Amino acid sequence: MKLVSKTDKPENIKTELLIVGCFEKEKFTNPLIDKKLKGAISKAFKEKKFEGEFKQVYSVSSLGNANFEKLLLVGLGKKKEFDLEKLRKISGFTAKIARDNKLLKYTSNLLSVDVKYSSDEKSQAFAEGTVMGLYQFLKYKTQEKNKINEIKEVTVLTNDVNKTNKGLKKGELLGNTTNYVRDLVNTPACEATPTYLANEAKKWAKKEGFKITVFGKKELEKKKMNALLGVGKGSSQESKLVVMETNPKAKKKIALVGKGITFDSGGLDIKPASYMLDMKSDMAGSAAVLGAIIIATKLKLPINVIGVMALAENMLGASAQRPGDIITAYNKKTIEIINTDAEGRLVLADAVAYAEEKKPDAIIDIATLTGAVVVALGYSAAGLISNNDKLKNALKKSGERTFERVWELPLWDEFRDAIKGELADVRNLGKGKGFEGGTIIGGTFIESFIDKTPWAHLDIGGTGWFVEDQDYISKGGTGYGVRLFTDLLENWK
Ligand code: BES
Ligand code: ZN
Ligand code: ZN
Repeated sequence: MKLVSKTDKPENIKTELLIVGCFEKEKFTNPLIDKKLKGAISKAFKEKKFEGEFKQVYSVSSLGNANFEKLLLVGLGKKKEFDLEKLRKISGFTAKIARDNKLLKYTSNLLSVDVKYSSDEKSQAFAEGTVMGLYQFLKYKTQEKNKINEIKEVTVLTNDVNKTNKGLKKGELLGNTTNYVRDLVNTPACEATPTYLANEAKKWAKKEGFKITVFGKKELEKKKMNALLGVGKGSSQESKLVVMETNPKAKKKIALVGKGITFDSGGLDIKPASYMLDMKSDMAGSAAVLGAIIIATKLKLPINVIGVMALAENMLGASAQRPGDIITAYNKKTIEIINTDAEGRLVLADAVAYAEEKKPDAIIDIATLTGAVVVALGYSAAGLISNNDKLKNALKKSGERTFERVWELPLWDEFRDAIKGELADVRNLGKGKGFEGGTIIGGTFIESFIDKTPWAHLDIGGTGWFVEDQDYISKGGTGYGVRLFTDLLENWK
């Protein structure tokens, strides 16, 4: 899909569909359009058929009286509540209406909304909402393709083409990369194996020119990364650790570490069928890390980013890891496996310890770690657990700006006590029934593999995968993390 900007008057534009926004309790501000439509708009306002409520729509056909064939009036809600997230939402919402109406092209006047943001901010949000809103996962559809419509071109009206193009370009990059990450998450586990994901990363490394090393079974055995290897023991798929790096010479250095379980059956502590169905998405964290590395490279961000993907498939088999097993992790700590379904924290234990050796300013891990985070925060925010205020605050700010929000949970000693091992150093499940404060326990376990570096853990069990459509993000993989990390890396001091 192509996004183009144009300086033109909306009332003169030649297009099949013209989208115009209107705030609640405000008059329609383009009398020329109303005149061309023979007063149809003022009539709709008078008769209270349209009042500008957020996402309310009213469409009028021009019947040959204007260059545009149809006008779609869309409500923007209360002006003082309008922000960039609302613009993303309304951009995605209107794009989907155009697509559902079988259009291939349309024109939007949404950037003319008179709000406190700059042209490039508005156009970036418009592009993000439009590109993400139009996402469809069609890779496996072979039949009834004629029923699927795809928008080919969106024209946006502006009086500041330069700034608008800058914002559109950035928004497109963020949107398209997020959509690529969503593709990876939506691709079934029979195709998206650890090797597949490692090869995807290699493809990007070659194309964009960032550094990459892929450790396979042999290298991982040599490095004694037994926590990562243990999780993959029941699978016929080889576990991998992918290490990517941008800008090796830059002073500032951030490590991003992603959970990459390409399928989580639970292992011998097998999941019930309904809990297992969506578990191809258990690699969403590592996919987001790849996305962030791609963007950091393309935007030439002046920061050294280390991206680590900890890839394994958690299956059952004759060689699978057992409950009660004790393993020695990469950093020599011993772990009692209480439950084989708490596997994300195991692969991350080795991956964060490895990342710390690179001496970054901060380590952020991102993981579909627990179902408990959905109980705590729903699908609205990732659980944030961190040992460092500066890093926490930076993530919170980036979360607000991108609307990939985070919400802090505590890191307290009682949780550290709960993961103390009986026979080994630590256990991978809390004491008690094992599930109380599950998200905090998971984060605290990962913390125990960090020596002294500022660290933050993002539990995206709720935000990485949607079970229902939400505004500009349809159900399935969300690509959460790509925009959050980009904003964080751009603003890291
Ligand atoms: N991948 C799951 C967590 C998950 C569940 C993410 C549902 C998104 C949606 C993780 O590996 C897991 O199985 N966690 C267990 C932890 C428990 C065994 C301590 C859970 O959440 O039940
Ligand atoms: Zn699990
Ligand atoms: Zn998992």
